[in-house]
Amino acid sequence: MNVLVPGGAGFIGSAFARLLVRERPKWNVIIFDKLTYAGNRANLQPVEGKHAFILGDIADAPAVRMALHEHAVTAIVNFAAESHVDRSILSGAEFIDTDVLGTYVLLTEARAARVGRYVQVSTDEVYGSISEGTATEESPVRPNNPYSASKAGGDLQVRAAFQTYRFPAMVTRGSNTYGPYQYPEKIIPLFVTNLLEGKKVPLYGDGRNRRDWLYVEDHARGILTVLERGTPGEIYNLGSAEEYENVMLTRLILAELGKGEECIEHVPDRPGHDRRYALDSSKAYGLDWRPTVSLPQGLTQTVAWYKANRAWWEPLKSGEYLEYYRRQYHERRSPEMAKHHSASEGRVSKGLSNSRAPHKGREERGRTEP
Ligand code: NAD
Ligand code: TYD
Repeated sequence: MNVLVPGGAGFIGSAFARLLVRERPKWNVIIFDKLTYAGNRANLQPVEGKHAFILGDIADAPAVRMALHEHAVTAIVNFAAESHVDRSILSGAEFIDTDVLGTYVLLTEARAARVGRYVQVSTDEVYGSISEGTATEESPVRPNNPYSASKAGGDLQVRAAFQTYRFPAMVTRGSNTYGPYQYPEKIIPLFVTNLLEGKKVPLYGDGRNRRDWLYVEDHARGILTVLERGTPGEIYNLGSAEEYENVMLTRLILAELGKGEECIEHVPDRPGHDRRYALDSSKAYGLDWRPTVSLPQGLTQTVAWYKANRAWWEPLKSGEYLEYYRRQYHERRSPEMAKHHSASEGRVSKGLSNSRAPHKGREERGRTEP
């Protein structure tokens, strides 16, 4: 199997690539990644020499076409996305470029190249907030923020590709994922690294929002299960049923690092903040997939990894990151700065984003490295 992995330099995509190299050694793994702020070649260092790497944008049809032909791709597992809710609230255009248009381009080129299997990696957030019970794959799609709305748009393109052309595509909807190599903007790596730096952790609102936490290797294995055993046209929820309120999760992190409640800084709530996500994953269980790592176990492993790998995350918390952190956590609390920003936001968001070119420059587009 020649598997193209768009977004394979990110958090879950790189875990998937490492899993394939370990457990499917005969497969050829081709990473196709734009290397946005969240993409990082260091995530692939453990599989150096065991994958091909293409710097490219999934919304760039000629680059995708070239990759599919050059590597005779037989399967695609698409992780490429803008993936952070808070960034989508600050500016949503890139989310539509990648999560919707990029997915459409990838599907169209894959169909033309007669790719035999396609998995779209999606999220439980497309169901919106679930006040009680759990979402099944039949539950309505009711996204509440620009990120989840763009992911839902991608999922619907996958549905259309199957319904219209019988293109053999499937969707996975995973729950909140954590583990090593996660960019320090999502709650767990942000809180762990802040505490390691002696800073406080910014808990939104009343801290009572609930999430279902899935360890990254369990998520990657669920996606592989669907790739190998899923039925085309189907959606599979991948949840852990490890539901925790944010404040409980925060206390577990504090305890893991020997810190006290005084390290919590209560900050204003995220606008449109979904109260609860919860999945019914019995359909994926039917394919013989089960999560294996509990949140307390996974957190111990994750905190140990961040302690041992400061050289991986410390450089990430600089430059553009500090600018994002300032906008997200400081300006939101200052009405004057917020006014200034919403004015400049209006200027940049005319049309969709102009950030189509890979960050390393266009001349590198589509270039393959062994
Ligand atoms: P991430 O932000 O860590 O990585 C995204 C990767 O995609 C990066 O390597 C980035 O460079 C690449 N990318 C972005 N735009 C691209 C483009 N236009 N073309 C090619 N590459 C591009 O994300 P993640 O947390 O690893 O999430 C991967 C997927 O899983 C996403 O689709 C996300 O929606 C989904 N998901 C994430 C979670 C979670 O908790 N992290 C949970 C469920 C589902
Ligand atoms: P996050 O990790 O951003 O994932 P998602 O929004 O995709 O669920 O956030 C997880 C939960 O943690 C969510 O309820 C928002 C909350 N949160 C905070 O309280 N503080 C923070 O600084 C962040 C990033 C998230």
